[in-house]
Order: sequence, then C-alpha cells, then structure tokens
Amino acid sequence: MQRYEEWADTIIEKIRGKMEWVSEKNKNKIPYRTDGNGDYDDRSDPAKEWRIDDGLNWWTNGFWGGIMWLLYQDTGEQRYAEIARVSEQKMEQCFRDFYGLHHDVGFMFVPTAVADYRLTGNPGSRRTAMHAANLLAGRFNPVGKFIRAWNDLEEDTRGWAIIDCMFNLSLLYWASEESKDPRFRQIAMMHADTVQKNFIRPDGSVCHIVEFDPETGRMLRSLGGQGCCEGSAWTRGQGWALYGFTISYLHTGKQEYLDTAKRVADYCLTHIPESGIIPVDFCQPPQLAYEDSCGACVIAGGLLELAKNLPEGEREKYEDAAIKILRAIADSRADFGETCDAIVLNCSGAYHSPEHHFTMSYADYYFIEAVYKVKGTGSLLW
Ligand code: GLY
Repeated sequence: MQRYEEWADTIIEKIRGKMEWVSEKNKNKIPYRTDGNGDYDDRSDPAKEWRIDDGLNWWTNGFWGGIMWLLYQDTGEQRYAEIARVSEQKMEQCFRDFYGLHHDVGFMFVPTAVADYRLTGNPGSRRTAMHAANLLAGRFNPVGKFIRAWNDLEEDTRGWAIIDCMFNLSLLYWASEESKDPRFRQIAMMHADTVQKNFIRPDGSVCHIVEFDPETGRMLRSLGGQGCCEGSAWTRGQGWALYGFTISYLHTGKQEYLDTAKRVADYCLTHIPESGIIPVDFCQPPQLAYEDSCGACVIAGGLLELAKNLPEGEREKYEDAAIKILRAIADSRADFGETCDAIVLNCSGAYHSPEHHFTMSYADYYFIEAVYKVKGTGSLLW
C-alpha cells in the first residue's frame, strides 16, 4: 500500500518507542486493560480470586503475546519472543484445569503457540496448539453444524454460537494444514457455512449470537449480545465477521467466503461516520456517544486483509476506509506517551455495560497489526 506507507512509517516509529518500555515493564504479566493510573493489570496474577472463565482462562490472554510476536517480526529482537513465551507457558495451566476453557482457545493460542511455531518452529508450541485445536473441535455440534460458544455459567448456552468465533477457526485451519488431517478444516468450514446462512443479513449487517436447538440443530432465535439490541449491528461483531470470513477464504479458497466478507465490508462502509470514530453499534442512537476503538481496529484490519484479495480498482475504497479509521485512532484516540501502558483509548466491551471507554490489549494488537499491514511487513498470524 504505497499510498500510505509514509504515514505507516511515522506510526510504526511511535509504536516501537512505546512498546520498548511497555514490554519491559509488563514482561511477566498477561495484561488485559489498564487501571486508573495507566498501569496494565495481570490476568495471570495467582494472588487474585478469578471467575472460572477469567484469570488464566480469560479469552484475550493471547493478545499480549501476539503483540510481542508482531514486534519480534518487525524488529527481530529476541527479547520480544521471550516475553511472548511467558504468556504461552503460563497458559499451559489452562489445559490442566480444563473446566474454564471455552470456544476462544483460538484467540488464546493462535497469536501465542501457533505464532511461535510458525515463526520459530518451536516443537513444544506445536503440541500446545494441537491440543487447543482438539479442544475446539470437540465443541462442534454435528447436528446443528456449529461450534458451541461459552459454557453454562448464568444461562443454558448449549445451542449458542457467536460471530466472534469466526476468528477461532484459524486454529482449526492451521491444525489441518499442519497435520494433513482434514477433520479440523471440515469442522471450521461447516461452522463458517452455518454462520453465513444464519448470521449475515441481506443488507450485510451481522448479528452477534444465534441460538440453535442443541438436539435438532434448528435455528431458534438471534440475540443482540454485546450490541444494542436484537437486529442491530454491534461494530466489533461486524469486524469479526468481515475479517473472519476473509481468513476463511484465505485458508480454503472458497469464493463465497470472500463474497460474504465483501458484503459485510460494504455495510460497514455505508455506516462509518465521517469522523472515522466507530460507535459501539452502528444502530445505536446518534446522540449517544459510546465509542469502540477496539471494534474500529478489527474492522480496519479486516478491510485491509480483504483489500489484499481484490483486484486493483476494487480494493482502494476498502483501503481508504481502513486508513480513515486508523488515522482517527492515531490522531485522537491513541496514547503514544508514557502515562499509560496501552496505546488505543476509548474501547467498549458491550453496549449495555455500565463502563465504556477504557483500554483493551486486543485493541492494541489489532491496531499494531493493521499498521504493519499498511506498511506491508510481517506475516499474517491467523
Ligand atoms: N469476543 C468478545 C468480544 O469481542 O468482546
């Protein structure tokens, strides 16, 4: 993307400067978000009492390691690989505990164990990633042809599938490519086909959660999930769909997946505000100023990856939209200074959460990854 390379260079300089001290300061942690003082928390802190799906099992725990692998690819500095491996080694405990693990083992182990194996050939990482892939495959409901989301905590989720899980499919594609056993890819494609049929609306918007009857596989209902309501368009979910279907296309060559990604991208393009600042939900009331910079970065990354797979003349509008979003983040929603460990500001977990506008390690991951995409360096970890 020559048109924007100079811009990417200036941002990469800032990322390198910031991550040099942030990585050193937090090298023994698995951070998720910063506190009121701008210091990262530690999801691997054994002194804390965690919910079963939190602590070491927290679904974002792969992203800190992923950031370290992005920086390793960029700088070639070994210390980034060493810090990334701290997360990978700590998360081994999750397999022993087992009960807290969930569908997000892809988010946890692709940017850590798979990345390690891909970039260094580390045999222990291959074993970890294969273990995670087998657990993910075990969540497949063969009648409904979907990967089950979550475990029963507050409600019965046996029939639930969620759009975020499109990203976990990378782990299954990798496992088939690595082992030459097609089962993992077959499960991933059956899940992607189910999502294509039941989650993507005719206008290209996407729902967050779909519930199926776990015994018959019949689609029962869709839920608003982290978006504002049933029928709305949670922005991070649009990003998971757009980027996730592009990844499924990359691993399978199935044209329908690329067409679906494009359809979701076109919906996003008609809803991205002039400012480039992304709301939590594209359907939220306009006077409500809830933003989600994390969804913004996922959408931007998806648009850039999609554009790479389209011919000249067709790709530019997606690249321009991605740059608009990334510039908005870099200009007004980023902290490249020393008062906060995170870069990307104003992220939101869910529309109905009591708290909005905080930092998230995965927002930083997708922001940094997207800037490297603009520059054209680094290999895709997914
Ligand atoms: N995977 C949950 C989220 O995007 O917040």
